[in-house]
Amino acid sequence: MIILFLLTLIGTNVIESSHFNGGTINWAPAYPNSSSSSIVITVTQFYSWQYPTISCLTDVPTSTNWILYPSVTLTCVANCSTQGSYSSNTISILTDCTSYSASLGILSSQRSVNITLNESTYFWIAYRDVSWRPLANAATSVFPGWSIVSLINLQRRPDGLINTPPVSQVTSPQYVIVNNTATIEIPVTDVDVGDDIRCRWSSKN
Ligand SMILES: *[C@@H]1O[C@H](CO)[C@@H](O)[C@H](O)[C@H]1NC(C)=O
Ligand SMILES: *[C@@H]1O[C@H](CO)[C@@H](O)[C@H](O)[C@H]1NC(C)=O
Ligand SMILES: *[C@@H]1O[C@H](CO)[C@@H](O)[C@H](O)[C@H]1NC(C)=O
Ligand SMILES: *[C@@H]1O[C@H](CO)[C@@H](O)[C@H](O)[C@H]1NC(C)=O
Ligand SMILES: *[C@@H]1O[C@H](CO)[C@@H](O)[C@H](O)[C@H]1NC(C)=O
Repeated sequence: MIILFLLTLIGTNVIESSHFNGGTINWAPAYPNSSSSSIVITVTQFYSWQYPTISCLTDVPTSTNWILYPSVTLTCVANCSTQGSYSSNTISILTDCTSYSASLGILSSQRSVNITLNESTYFWIAYRDVSWRPLANAATSVFPGWSIVSLINLQRRPDGLINTPPVSQVTSPQYVIVNNTATIEIPVTDVDVGDDIRCRWSSKN
């Protein structure tokens, strides 16, 4: 009975500890002009959290409370048959606090890691969880899940290079007024000169 009660308590806390503000997962080949079939990429995760729910430490969010905020890894969510060796060496979601604002109640964290994958590897990775920050006018009354997704595409381009994906940094959260049209600027840069850049809204989480 006591065990059941404790589990219920922990389960409730996990769901109610709304702490995540969003983020991005970027990657870039370390040597885009290399002709080697073994490709080093630098994967950089940026996340935004609720402060002071999450503490400004290394190994965010586990360092705040490893039971409530466990360490998980970026998992393959699509095209997993072409993920190569990624499944045996997945990337931790842990990042390190870079700044926080007590007045805005926001904490930012970041970490870069290098991994080596084979040429022609092509798969989607994601950080998936629930416990989104409290949302006014949420589209769903149940706890809205979220996915921060990135496509790792190491298929060689027609010009022989490994593509460096465009990068965008939009701070999260962005506040809008219900039923009013809002403009959200999404600045994008691409180191591959002349590449066509397009944006789209995700249709589901
Ligand atoms: C890589 O190749 C591109 C296109 O051929 C070229 O513009 C660029 O200068 C090269 N970069 C390096 C570091 O050699
Ligand atoms: C990725 O998966 C989609 C959907 O299954 C498929 O159409 C596409 O060909 C796959 N791409 C690669 C490069 O494997
Ligand atoms: C890379 O691809 C080669 C040929 O398909 C395969 O033999 C090798 O095990 C792969 N290496 C990794 C690290 O996946
Ligand atoms: C990743 O590799 C590049 C090129 O070797 C190196 O400059 C960079 O410091 C490495 N980054 C990390 C996080 O290890
Ligand atoms: C927004 O518009 C919808 C449809 O007209 C309406 O039902 C809803 O009450 C509005 N919400 C607010 C907060 O004004």
